[in-house]
This record gives sequence, structure tokens and C-alpha cells, in this order.
Amino acid sequence: MSKNQTLKRNSVSTIRARKGKEPIVCLTAYTALMAQLLDEHVELLLVGDSVGTVLHGAKTTVQVSVGDMIFHGRSVMKAEPKSLVVIDLPFGSYEASPQAAFETAARVLKETGADAVKLEGGTEMAPTIQFLTSRGIAVMAHIGLLPQSVLVKGGYKVVGRGKEEAAYLMKDAKAVCEAGAFAVVLEGVIEDVATEITQAITIPTIGIGASPACDGQILVTEDLLGFFEQTPKFVREYADLRGIITKAVSRYADDVNARQFPTNAETYNEP
Ligand code: KIV
Repeated sequence: MSKNQTLKRNSVSTIRARKGKEPIVCLTAYTALMAQLLDEHVELLLVGDSVGTVLHGAKTTVQVSVGDMIFHGRSVMKAEPKSLVVIDLPFGSYEASPQAAFETAARVLKETGADAVKLEGGTEMAPTIQFLTSRGIAVMAHIGLLPQSVLVKGGYKVVGRGKEEAAYLMKDAKAVCEAGAFAVVLEGVIEDVATEITQAITIPTIGIGASPACDGQILVTEDLLGFFEQTPKFVREYADLRGIITKAVSRYADDVNARQFPTNAETYNEP
């Protein structure tokens, strides 16, 4: 019997039940190795389409494909995590119609074994969220700053400033909640608006650059581990892996160049 059959994973109800009681710790993971390392510390792992920019050098998440998400989703599931695993539906794979979204989401869940999908958009995506959830697909919504809309927005901008934007965001949050999403990511949202939304809706808000008011927090794992030279204001770096890797690899190169690696201790010989 596999570990998955004996150890129960968190469900969407576990996540929802934490609202107003306990914070929800979430991180991104794209590989089995990272999922194994993170799993005991988090409630939810997101196989984000940020995989394109973080691991594969893409300029935006727009280039990420369904195949990419399935490949990384399968890798994460091989770690047999106890965390709820959510997979991003990539740009172009769900927006055209609720039917298109259902086909993509069903394929992603069948081929990975993950628990839920995430999609970007508020009021305009509510009918799609309703279509999916009423047909057995758990959906995490994502409102505020929407990285998949970068081509029309022309950049990444914090949202919620001014009465009009705040009202739009509140409408989005209520729409995805009423449509049946089990949680909603608030990205790049100012604190007052994140606070009002978190108080107004019955599902957990998961913030990224959206203040401590949210019910849970998510970060891109490679950001918090310090892989990048520059990170946004909302990231806290808990390690300097870029520095550690650079030093380690430079020592290795020095040793190879000086013929000090490998030594006898690292070499196979006749006994
Ligand atoms: O793709 C991603 O990693 C995300 C999170 C940053 C919320 O959507």
C-alpha cells in the first residue's frame, strides 16, 4: 500500500476550516525534491505557473503550457505530500469557456493526482468557477494583481488604491466566493482592502503582497530562499541560497582546476 493510501492529505475542508482560527501556510513547489522538503511545514503546496519564470527563464507566465503544469504537478505528487496540492491552470487553457476550463482542469487532475486547480480572475471567471465546482473540481481563485494579464496591463501593479478599485476587488472576492471557490489568493492588494475582503467573505484569503490581514500567506519558495538578486518588497528572504551555491560551485571549480578534486578518498580502486 502506498503512503498516499495510508496518510491522508489535507482536504479543501481542512483549509476552509482554518479561516478565523489558524493561519494557513502555503508555498510553491515545482519538484518532488522541494515538495519533500516543504511538506511538513505547510498546509498547501501550489504548483504555480511561476515555474516558467522561476525555473525555466521565461519572461512572463504567459508562455507556460498545460504540459508543463502536468509535468511539474506529477513531480510534486511523487513526494506523496500531506499538504493539499493545487495546480495552476496556465494562460490560454481555461478562459475561453467554462467547458474549456473543465476539460483542462479534469485532465490536469487526472494526470497528476493533485487535489485542486487555481485560476486567475474575479467576476468574469465566476461562472467558470461555478461550472467547475458543481462538477466536482475544487477551485482556488486568484484576484488582485493577475500575472497572466500582464500583456493587457503592461506591467505588475499593486491594486486596491482608490474607492473604485477597492469596490471592484470586493466585488471580485464576493463573486468567486459565491461561485464556490474554496479559497482565494489576493495578490498585490493594499492592506485596507485585504482586511475588508478577509472580513467580508467566508472563504480563506491567501495573501501574496497583500498584508498580514489575510487568513494565510503564500510566497514563491525560491524567493524566500534567496535565489534571486532582486525580489519584490513583499518578500522576506530567509536564506541566501544564491550566495551559498555561488561559493560552493566556485570552490568546486577551483579544486578541479588545481587537480585537488577528486582525491584518493573520492576515487574507486582495487581493494
Ligand atoms: O504561480 C504562482 O506561483 C502563483 C503564486 C505566486 C500565488 O500564482
